[in-house]
Amino acid sequence: MKSQPAIGFIGAGNMGAALMRGVLDAHITSPQSVWAADVAAEKLAVLQAELHIQTTASNPEVLRRCNVVVLAVKPQNMDDVLSEIASVTSAKHFFISIAAGIPTARIEAALGNQPRVIRIMPNTPALIKCGASALARGKYATPDDLTFAVRMFQAVGVAVTLDESLLDAVTGLTGSGPAYIFLMIESLIKAGVELGLKPADADQLVKQMVLGAARMASELPQTPAQLREAVTSPGGTTFAGLQVLDKANYRDVISAAVKRATERAKELAQS
Ligand SMILES: NC(=O)c1ccc[n+]([C@@H]2O[C@H](COP(=O)([O-])OP(=O)(O)OC[C@H]3O[C@@H](n4cnc5c(N)ncnc54)[C@H](OP(=O)(O)O)[C@@H]3O)[C@@H](O)[C@H]2O)c1
Repeated sequence: MKSQPAIGFIGAGNMGAALMRGVLDAHITSPQSVWAADVAAEKLAVLQAELHIQTTASNPEVLRRCNVVVLAVKPQNMDDVLSEIASVTSAKHFFISIAAGIPTARIEAALGNQPRVIRIMPNTPALIKCGASALARGKYATPDDLTFAVRMFQAVGVAVTLDESLLDAVTGLTGSGPAYIFLMIESLIKAGVELGLKPADADQLVKQMVLGAARMASELPQTPAQLREAVTSPGGTTFAGLQVLDKANYRDVISAAVKRATERAKELAQS
């Protein structure tokens, strides 16, 4: 791979734009070597003004300009895009797909000629460079392709490589996961307000508490269980609160939510 690889994006929406910012901020390539195509000309104009990247209305043009091609359209638009670019695909191309639920085998079959494909399940915190992405290698992608893709997604958070069979589980866990945490934040704020706090105070305190707990779990050497035990004295306030969660089978409810979201990811992939 050249030091300034040409990276193309088909789909310049939320995730595509977040990745463009990530690769440019991490100096993986330069604005002159980033190409973006989208059906929405106004999105391209905004990105061109902000990031000084190259833009085009033509998806095949992205393949003519770039070896690395990020497929960042919605899953329902993927078949149209693949049929549009199949005839200009060659051995020089390496595809990175972030479309939820579309297996690498389907992309490989649609493009033909054994294309190098890596499939990735990112999540929305990638928009603020705090994403959690899981990467899986298609049949023809090389270890170098994987290394490059990991570098790209580390530019917007953490990146873990695993077997493609686990990507539905990742969808249910960390793809849908931010919503589970948002619901917890909403519920905690509501509880604070019910107990008499001003909404603005409850909002500020709860958000900082969640951020602080997440940072402790990420940055300190103790496990989450050890951190929980350290703040739970027998007979104390935290102990009393956790007893209520235990009685409501909190752990089982969380586990059931992740399993149901995983099943739903499989259902959507098949439909
Ligand atoms: N957002 C997330 O948190 C997240 C998480 C994991 C995976 N993903 C995956 O990331 C992909 C992109 O999601 P997103 O949230 O960034 O979607 P998005 O904001 O809707 O971006 C997709 C862009 O592609 C454009 N587009 C549609 N058809 C096209 C075509 N034929 N050629 C070129 N561009 C086309 C869309 O234009 P129009 O809006 O005009 O249709 C839109 O600007 C999806 O496949 C999604 O499954 C997203």
